[in-house]
Parts: sequence; structure tokens; C-alpha cells
Amino acid sequence: MLWWTETLATGILTVDEQHKKIFEKTGEILSLNATSDTKTIHETFDFLSNYVIEHFRDEESAMVKMNYEDFESHSQQHTYFLTEFFKLATEIKQEKIEEETLDNLKILVVEWLANHISQSDKKFAEVMHSLAVSSS
Ligand SMILES: [Fe+2]
Repeated sequence: MLWWTETLATGILTVDEQHKKIFEKTGEILSLNATSDTKTIHETFDFLSNYVIEHFRDEESAMVKMNYEDFESHSQQHTYFLTEFFKLATEIKQEKIEEETLDNLKILVVEWLANHISQSDKKFAEVMHSLAVSSS
């Protein structure tokens, strides 16, 4: 099970709230398997995909506003996640739901999310804080 911990906090309230919500949904993804109700699987996917898109957009607009130097590579990471996520989402929508597809999804979401939030998002938050401190 993937739990939110304070070590993952960026200190930016909206970003942290969104991360918590993503983790909450991740818990639901981890509990899915090929015998789960199809409607539940699709609803979980739809919610997570819309939510993640909105979250990435919020993060990226904050980066553009502050002229974040790592914007390009950070936004590439978002694009990578979305590309992989939608590949799996398409497989799930088109065919009978395979255990392997759900397993790949779980690995992507857990590994990517935990790494991205604990490293890249934290780095961005640190720069944002240092700017806030120096301008106050
Ligand atoms: Fe991010």
C-alpha cells in the first residue's frame, strides 16, 4: 500500500493536497485486479487521468510563472507518465482486462509517482520557497 508521508510534502498547500488525492486513488488502483468490477476499473482510470492532467497543468503553470530552470525536463517527466498511462488505459478500454496490464499500471503509478513526487516535485518546491523567501 502506498501511503502519503510528510517526507513527500513539498510545502505548497495545493500541490500537497493534489498529491494526497493522487495517492488516495493509487490505493484504489492497487486494489484492482482482473476480476474487479469493470465499471469500477474504468471509473478509477477516468478519475485518475483527469485529475493527473489537471495537477500537472497546475504544477507547470506555477513553474512557468516563476521561470523555473528545470521546467523542460520536469514537463518531459509529466509527458512520459501520461504517455505510458494512456497506453495502458487504452488497452484496458479496448480489450478484456488483463491482469498483466493492471500490474504494469500499478508499477508505473507506484514507481513513477513516488519517485517523481519525492525528487522532482520536491526540488521544484525548494526553488519556489527560496524565491518566496528572497522576495519577501
Ligand atoms: Fe511534477
